[in-house]
Amino acid sequence: MLRESEQQELDLAGAASNRVIIPSPKRDARRTRERRHLPWETNYAAFSPNFAEAAVRQLCLPGRVKVFDPFVGAGTTLEAAASVGVEAYGIELNPYSALLARCRVSTNAQMKVVTDIFRSATAPLKRTRASKSTTSLRTPSNVVESLVGAVAARANCQASDLLGHLCLRPDGDLDSEIVALVAALHVLKKQAAVHYRSNPAWLIQGPSPDRIEDDESPAENLETAFRTQVQLMIEDLHLRAKGSAARPIAVYPGPFQTAPVQSRQISRFLTSPPYLNRLDYVNPTLPELHALGWQQGARLDDLRARMMGTTKMRRKLGAGRLSSTTATKLLEAISEHPTKASGTYYLKFFRQYFEDMADFLGWMRSRSTPTCRGIVVLQDSFYKEIKVPIAQIISEFAEAVDFTVEVLHEEKRTRHMGTLSPHQRAHAPEKALTEFTFLLSRTR
Ligand SMILES: C[S@@+](CC[C@H](N)C(=O)[O-])C[C@H]1O[C@@H](n2cnc3c(N)ncnc32)[C@H](O)[C@@H]1O
Repeated sequence: MLRESEQQELDLAGAASNRVIIPSPKRDARRTRERRHLPWETNYAAFSPNFAEAAVRQLCLPGRVKVFDPFVGAGTTLEAAASVGVEAYGIELNPYSALLARCRVSTNAQMKVVTDIFRSATAPLKRTRASKSTTSLRTPSNVVESLVGAVAARANCQASDLLGHLCLRPDGDLDSEIVALVAALHVLKKQAAVHYRSNPAWLIQGPSPDRIEDDESPAENLETAFRTQVQLMIEDLHLRAKGSAARPIAVYPGPFQTAPVQSRQISRFLTSPPYLNRLDYVNPTLPELHALGWQQGARLDDLRARMMGTTKMRRKLGAGRLSSTTATKLLEAISEHPTKASGTYYLKFFRQYFEDMADFLGWMRSRSTPTCRGIVVLQDSFYKEIKVPIAQIISEFAEAVDFTVEVLHEEKRTRHMGTLSPHQRAHAPEKALTEFTFLLSRTR
């Protein structure tokens, strides 16, 4: 870790040199389609890898500072940091997303080890099926159960602690075990024919209405499908590992406030918190979470409630003044809006999001160095016809905790969650949203 004075010298050198042009955070649809068989490509809200690499280069000199991502998602920041040769660490509240992000930097996974793990875990199931025991049918849930047991034994932990245990192992360690588990879950989900519509909060069963997976036979034998899946994943992981300076990468499962970082420790960050668009970050991974023992009920409800941007009302909201006057005025406008639930549910929903944003920035202030800089991607939104000017709002919240905000890139989005809803279209037919890439810099 650099001393503060060394960091300041670097900052000055960086400012004097030409800035890297930051590309769009939006992923290229063709690339996503081509790579849809990779489980880390299924995250709807992920950064484009080009963007994440340019942002890491903009923020860090390789080998000098670490980059932190408090909302890891599918781990694009971590992957980009690894390929640029920068140390990175991050935290993610959805436990399956955290495992997926950890899987994405598992460059040490070996095909033979992965397939041996799968074979040894599923062999007993095959034997008992041959003996026609009624309890021994090889269902997706007992394949996962056997695999979890086998991986937990190899990792030397209890099955109930497995997710956290795997995420916390440094990259390079238990990589084959992580790939085995993620590949099996991905294949079983595909075989269960669970599909997403454009709105990723909706999961539906049956053949894909978007005909996206027509080329994949759901009847494919599990072993064959697993081997193909692992091969694709390992090729991708090894391809990226080639030529890049391997760097330690760590992923913590949990809410950002529990990240094991001391005060004045974070000097660089790159992240994208949930937008104010009511997207559910639990639903798209429900099959995997179920398979890993997260049954519908209090535990999943609690996970949903803790998400930033959640539609669930979590706690009594603060009565105090928000540090953004724009957010305060917006809440007044929402509370006076004549439509049903504006002054009740929606007012609380928006207030909760703004409180979360203020908490996040305040937490960053307490953990960051005085010369900390970070890149944050956010999108503005609408409540009915009322625009939510996110650039202004984040600037005011950030200034209150000693960060300045500069817009590095902005881009109009004509297709977004709002355009999918007929109600939303009725309120503001011309709604185009802007996605912003902000640079946040500590002022003192
Ligand atoms: C926009 S996505 C991040 C996508 C990421 N940049 C990528 O490239 O994959 C936001 C993520 O924040 C996570 N999240 C929501 N609330 C959180 C919290 N309180 N602490 C940590 N992570 C949280 C969600 O589960 C989701 O994966």
